[in-house]
Amino acid sequence: MSLRGDYSRAGSDFSVEQDWEKYTSEEHALYRRLFERQSKLVPRYACPEWIEAIAGLDASREIPKFGEVTKQLKKATGWEIVAVPGLIPDEAFFTHLANRRFPVTVWLRKPEEFDYIVEPDVFHDFFGHVPLLFDPVYADHLYEYGKGGLKAMRLDAVKFLARLYWFTIEFGLIRTPAGTRAYGAGLMSSGGELPHSVEDPGPKRLPFDLERIMRTEYLIDRYQDTYFVIDSFEHLMRETAPDFTPLYARLKK
Ligand SMILES: [Fe+2]
Repeated sequence: MSLRGDYSRAGSDFSVEQDWEKYTSEEHALYRRLFERQSKLVPRYACPEWIEAIAGLDASREIPKFGEVTKQLKKATGWEIVAVPGLIPDEAFFTHLANRRFPVTVWLRKPEEFDYIVEPDVFHDFFGHVPLLFDPVYADHLYEYGKGGLKAMRLDAVKFLARLYWFTIEFGLIRTPAGTRAYGAGLMSSGGELPHSVEDPGPKRLPFDLERIMRTEYLIDRYQDTYFVIDSFEHLMRETAPDFTPLYARLKK
């Protein structure tokens, strides 16, 4: 797969400078349009933790300065944002998470990619992922996931663990007093799939089931036909706390 970011200046951990001054006014305007479109959907479809976090961020007018948000994030949950050129190798990704660093892509999509983009850009990574890093339980879960990723590499089981990330961190739904809501970043950053995931009669919405998730192949080029619903972030934390070693062994049979 060829990636479109500029990796030439990346460090050994794939971090780069955000170079915020280099964003153009057109890029800030496009980011603002993306932010506004998603913000209209958020009250109806996003989980309360996400809504509360975005309200505390000054992120609606222009592409945020990662350094500024990191100051807030460090105080809240000890996490920081690391600028990266785009997708990075598993080991670098897991190592960042296991050190409470969330990699955020620096570049923004083109206007013609307003509705759909293949690779994650700064809008997906920031708007989708960063708000929930302010939730202490979610933040701890993602840190544990990073450590679990490094372990899965040793056990040759990244394929299975990646499905957990996909069906929770990217496309997860959560039960709330107001009904089922989205918390996955792939949903939060998508104008079409966010409403689809919550209220379209088509897809299956199953209770969280770790083994089933790890047995389910996912779709990268269209809406998911299955979503998994957690009861709370505590529930997700609890269900993913056990050692996955025996589960991986079963899955490989
Ligand atoms: Fe993502």
